[in-house]
Amino acid sequence: MTDKIEIVGPQKVEGIVHISGAKNAVLPLLAASLLSDDSLLLKNVPPLVDVQTMLSLLEELGASFRIDNERVDSQKISLKTDSINNFTAPYEIVKKMRASILILGPLLAKFGICTVSLPGGCAIGVRPIDLHLKGMEALGATIELKDGYVHASAPNGLKGAEIEFPIVTVTGTENIMMAAVLASGTTILKNAAKEPEVIDLAECLNKMGANIFGHGTDTITIKGVSRLHHAEHCVVPDRIEAGTYALAAGITHGKIDLIGGNLRQLLPSFIEKMEEAGLLFTDIENGIRVESSGTIAPIDIETEPYPGFPTDLQAQTMAMLCLANGVSNISENIWENRFMHVAELGRMGANIEIHNAHAKIIGVKKLTGAQVMATDLRASFSLVLAAIAANGKTVIDRVYHLDRGYSCVKEKLADCGVLINRLK
Ligand code: EPU
Repeated sequence: MTDKIEIVGPQKVEGIVHISGAKNAVLPLLAASLLSDDSLLLKNVPPLVDVQTMLSLLEELGASFRIDNERVDSQKISLKTDSINNFTAPYEIVKKMRASILILGPLLAKFGICTVSLPGGCAIGVRPIDLHLKGMEALGATIELKDGYVHASAPNGLKGAEIEFPIVTVTGTENIMMAAVLASGTTILKNAAKEPEVIDLAECLNKMGANIFGHGTDTITIKGVSRLHHAEHCVVPDRIEAGTYALAAGITHGKIDLIGGNLRQLLPSFIEKMEEAGLLFTDIENGIRVESSGTIAPIDIETEPYPGFPTDLQAQTMAMLCLANGVSNISENIWENRFMHVAELGRMGANIEIHNAHAKIIGVKKLTGAQVMATDLRASFSLVLAAIAANGKTVIDRVYHLDRGYSCVKEKLADCGVLINRLK
């Protein structure tokens, strides 16, 4: 794959897009396969670089898998983890994908040992893992930090405990929930994450024989069991992908049918805010229709844990608000450094002022094509959206970020009448 995209705008989005399974659901689900001796069959898995990275990590640990294509943007993966013989996530893999930390809970629970490289810095913030480690310690694990690695062990197994998170952490909740599934006794997680991806993981674990209650609320109870068994699970639709394509209709004054399940339920505050901005949402069979009302009204947004406005749609929403009829405000409350797209949008004629974690977006009449650089996954798509709406040619560099979390972008955009060119 090359890492540049060329887009000549303005273009209008009109058509149908199939929403894939969620990246942030499938990564913990793949890690969950480590908890069982029997196979796990995952359906509706998106073909993404992050999925490949998690599969290489599992392979390195001794797992095997088989991939069958369901659709061009969806796969069926059958995983077998009955011959795990390595318990280390090396730096080379963790530095590519921080979600590698998700093997910690399953390996500690099943084998009583796990070594994971400490993730370094990343484009959107410091991203510590202290809450994952404190949670494992509360379950009785011993944690040692040495040579850039976390060495975790629990030779006598994990024991249920009550753990209250000081802040909501998505993968932290998932990691500790997976660890607690095979612990002796009951674990209660308070101030747990309520994200649909956490619910999806709990539902899959329950199909595998776990005993989890309260997922989707801020208190999750896990009664430990001695073993898990075979299960099949279909990954929840990607609400962030759905929101991103809804914004493509919004920024180009177009219309799009998003197909893939009950998307309205997955995006409550996003849809509320988009209606305020002038987008119209109608329920259709197996999805939702999004239509522009013809203008983009300015709005104020604060990113929050679910069910609040998702940080993973902040950059893409900002791209649309650059063309709003007035001044919008965005407060980024989850990640301290998630405004890297602002300077790039500025190169395309956007008028945005940053004050710490707040962005003031002063709507302009038009954006113009420019050479820009993608800095992270969601920022990459914000530039794609701006480029589709802008006048003239935009070349976006370093779009390999996009392949980590969006499948078949060129094909999906072509399905709604938008041409983008991946440069050779
Ligand atoms: N935090 C800590 N200590 C920890 C864990 C988190 O201080 O041990 C802080 C973080 O620094 C951050 C906040 O808690 O300020 C929330 O972080 P969280 O742990 O919820 O983030 P995450 O689990 O690492 C997941 C998604 C992210 C998404 C966030 C927030 C996955 C694989 N990643 O990350 O997705 O932004 O939740 O919703 O599920 C993306 O897809 O582009 C992406 C970055």
